Amino acid sequence: MELKFQENFLWGAATSGPQTEGRFKKQHDNVFDYDFDHYQERFWGGIGPDTASNFFNDFREDIKLMKAAGLKSIRTSIQWSRLIDDLEKNTVNEKAVDFYNAVINEFIAQGIRPMINLNHFDLPVELLKTYGGWESPHVVDLYAGFAAKCFAEFSDRVSDWFTFNEPMVVVECAYLLGFHYPDIVDGKKAVQVAYHLQLASSLAIEQYRKINKNPEGRIGIILNLTPSYPAAEKIEDLKAAEMADLWQNRLFLDASIKGEFPEELVSLLQEENVLWQSEAEDLKRIKENKVDLLGVNYYHPSRVQEPEYSSDSLAQDWRPDKYYASFNKRGVRMNADRGWEIHPQTIYEIAKRIQEDYGNISWFISENGMGVENEEHFKDEEGQIQDDYRIIFTTEHLFWLHKAIQEGSNCFGYHVWTPIDCWSWRNSYKNRYGLISLNIHTQVKTLKKSAYWYKNLTDSSLLQV
Ligand code: NOJ
Repeated sequence: MELKFQENFLWGAATSGPQTEGRFKKQHDNVFDYDFDHYQERFWGGIGPDTASNFFNDFREDIKLMKAAGLKSIRTSIQWSRLIDDLEKNTVNEKAVDFYNAVINEFIAQGIRPMINLNHFDLPVELLKTYGGWESPHVVDLYAGFAAKCFAEFSDRVSDWFTFNEPMVVVECAYLLGFHYPDIVDGKKAVQVAYHLQLASSLAIEQYRKINKNPEGRIGIILNLTPSYPAAEKIEDLKAAEMADLWQNRLFLDASIKGEFPEELVSLLQEENVLWQSEAEDLKRIKENKVDLLGVNYYHPSRVQEPEYSSDSLAQDWRPDKYYASFNKRGVRMNADRGWEIHPQTIYEIAKRIQEDYGNISWFISENGMGVENEEHFKDEEGQIQDDYRIIFTTEHLFWLHKAIQEGSNCFGYHVWTPIDCWSWRNSYKNRYGLISLNIHTQVKTLKKSAYWYKNLTDSSLLQV
């Protein structure tokens, strides 16, 4: 069977500055640079972001390879820690402006539409040390200032902007789970950080509407959506699924698209005495500065059941997972390397939900992909990685996306994560996601089988299933 996607469907791939550029000539360290310098042992293979995939030096070659892999669009990010010299005075570094201009211009010259994200977990570490990072309203203001500089410098050529990538990952990994620096585990702080990230996003949008130079321009946010399925059709599990959804998905979805935090969540946080501190004026700005479009990163659903908590831990410390416990369902398909369930049909459900509950806002899949360990084992005699598993994974997700579009979903594109194997937070190079492989010792980059497959797909917009 052959499925046809609309003519102007935007095919592409996503990546980020901190995962590709390397630390060459940056003005500041971000939290991950700092984490690596101080706690190298936390990183897979002891490998940090120093070189990453060397995009800072190799970008022209990399962009050629991306074109060969069929990309018509790309989402990457501008690093605050590279662009800005003086973080308080918000002065731009001219060499960094030259670099990002050269990158944007090269993408355009190669027929790849650049989409720019302003924050991919990469807070300059001084702002964490001095002010407590996203716990501080001052950092929110500084971020809006940085965003304004980006719009002033680059919005003439870039028409798609995003304020944040996966803000919930910052909240959960850095403030609840101890997976990202500063490894704080504190529910109340997590709540305040979530609010500040949303406010920062809205204030960046406010700036954008004043500064944008591009009549076609639009701005959105990228959210990792993990629809939650109850373990069983019993009231306790259904309730748990609703709570997980409220916290993991609806918090940023509602605030970004509807301009308001979900009422149920606000009253619950109030009852628990952990509601964020906010100014009425700022809530008004959140209301007034909704997104134009939405990016959805989808990898796996979330399976939840009623929690089992001891009353002691409950009394001392509030956590969102007080209301639900996550588990891995047995007997389902898994991406074993990541421990993530493979459930392509969830893409269809996300699309339906955006259509029905969020006004069918213009949206796209901003990340979807399969991370695999030891991919070199899949090389053929010519040295090409035969990643048929990735082709199957992508095909299945696109099948369900296509179905949703046929049924009226306002989805305009699909981005795989990621064009070239890249460095990934503390996981470093453990899981490879690229259409193009990276040899981290020689920096040689080679198209995988999936890159040729993707080019065929993106040239024809025809999916063979
Ligand atoms: C989501 C994040 O945006 C990206 O930075 C990360 O590397 C991928 N998922 C893969 O885990």
